[in-house]
Amino acid sequence: MENFRKIIQHNREWAAAMKEADPEYFEKRAAKQEPHYLYIGCSDSRVPANVVTGTEPGELFVHRNIANVVLPSDLNVMSVLQYAVEVLDVKHVIVTGHYGCGGVKAAMGTASYGLVDLWLQPIRNVVRWNKPELDQITDEQSRFDRVVELNVLEQLYHLSETPVIQNAWAKGRRPLLHGLVYDIHEGLLREIATGVDSQEGADQLAQRRQSGVPAGPPPIMGRMANPIMAGDELADQIAQRVMDRMAVIGAKDAQKK
Ligand code: CO
Repeated sequence: MENFRKIIQHNREWAAAMKEADPEYFEKRAAKQEPHYLYIGCSDSRVPANVVTGTEPGELFVHRNIANVVLPSDLNVMSVLQYAVEVLDVKHVIVTGHYGCGGVKAAMGTASYGLVDLWLQPIRNVVRWNKPELDQITDEQSRFDRVVELNVLEQLYHLSETPVIQNAWAKGRRPLLHGLVYDIHEGLLREIATGVDSQEGADQLAQRRQSGVPAGPPPIMGRMANPIMAGDELADQIAQRVMDRMAVIGAKDAQKK
């Protein structure tokens, strides 16, 4: 409880100090927000969005989740993106990863952490798709750092594929997309990709991966485990199996009656 009281106490002190420096500080910001940036970062407590970017309340629209993942199936991040781009009219969308990211590390290993394993699946794909490049990095720490960077590029590419970004670009509008990695040892933001403002730019981003595998899921045909089984023959086999099964169930039901 003592730790909790501490943050309330710090809040009182902070608010008083801000007001003393500028009596209008809160009133000016309470009226409206006009952020220029949407920041998508990791939930990690060591990477506070406003602190590391030196921004004030009202300047940064923020979405954070474990390992800064951008997925079209995530209603949360997609809503934030849509509101930021179409309503707030942000000029820049920034994906910020960080070295030492626990989420990325977990995705590189085999240990199970429960529900979060599902969340980290897209990063396992990043590791898989970039295997040729990553296999060449013998130093474990360097390989970890590289996955953090590749994950940022991947999420940036996911962003470029969203209808919100596609529509904005089709109208000749911003936002520009940027990818950063925060160095938790130095406190510095490293620019991985900056000023992406078109599909061509985003495609180049994906091509930068040495594996030569384009971003997004691999094509279905490449993943087909047993192509010989595909086609009419397989469909007939499945249909037959279903009919056999139904016949068994029907017979059992008849027995019950
Ligand atoms: Co992290």
